[in-house]
Amino acid sequence: MSLEIAPILHQAHPIIPVLTLQHVEDAVPLAEALQAGGIDVVEVTLRTDQALAVIKAMKQVKGMVVGAGTVVRASQFRDLEEVKADFAVSPGATPQLLETGRVSSMPFLPAAATVSEVLQGMEAGFDCFKFFPASVLGGAPALKAFHGPLPDITFCPTGGISLANCGDYLSLPNVACVGGSWIVPGDALQNKDWSRIEQLAREVATLG
Ligand code: 3PG
Repeated sequence: MSLEIAPILHQAHPIIPVLTLQHVEDAVPLAEALQAGGIDVVEVTLRTDQALAVIKAMKQVKGMVVGAGTVVRASQFRDLEEVKADFAVSPGATPQLLETGRVSSMPFLPAAATVSEVLQGMEAGFDCFKFFPASVLGGAPALKAFHGPLPDITFCPTGGISLANCGDYLSLPNVACVGGSWIVPGDALQNKDWSRIEQLAREVATLG
């Protein structure tokens, strides 16, 4: 059983790129560019046909910690264990996802958007949750309010977070890290502009 996502998130740079890749050949150069800029934990979303191959390829870059995002079905855990993903993230949670995540060898980060959802996750044994889509759910003020009744719970907000507002989240005691797609802009990826991505990673790596 593995609920231990917290050590990974605490060891990570507190800003984690959320990556959606269409082409597996971009995986290694992208991971190398991020790593050169100082970021070595990423979340690869399962939103493309290539996602599992991308995870497998990125794992070949030494020192890279590669998690999978957009886990929406318990059956996806088997595929992720096969490609040896380092952790799994869901934008939500169901009893089946929570139970599969609880017994998986991979650390699992389920999501919770309300206090009741946090309580359900706590009943399943979790104490760290994704908060998505953060900006729509009340942003940093919502998480600040959650800290009163839920002082032992940690969050990783994503959704609508940017360079401009990530500090609002990271200054909260119950935020372990933030995630975002802005760290790797679509046009930079399309143009295979690895040096720009390295530069952006370097800017992000100096924050937090
Ligand atoms: C996620 O899955 O966490 C989000 O797609 C990331 O949100 P963003 O694109 O607003 O950064």
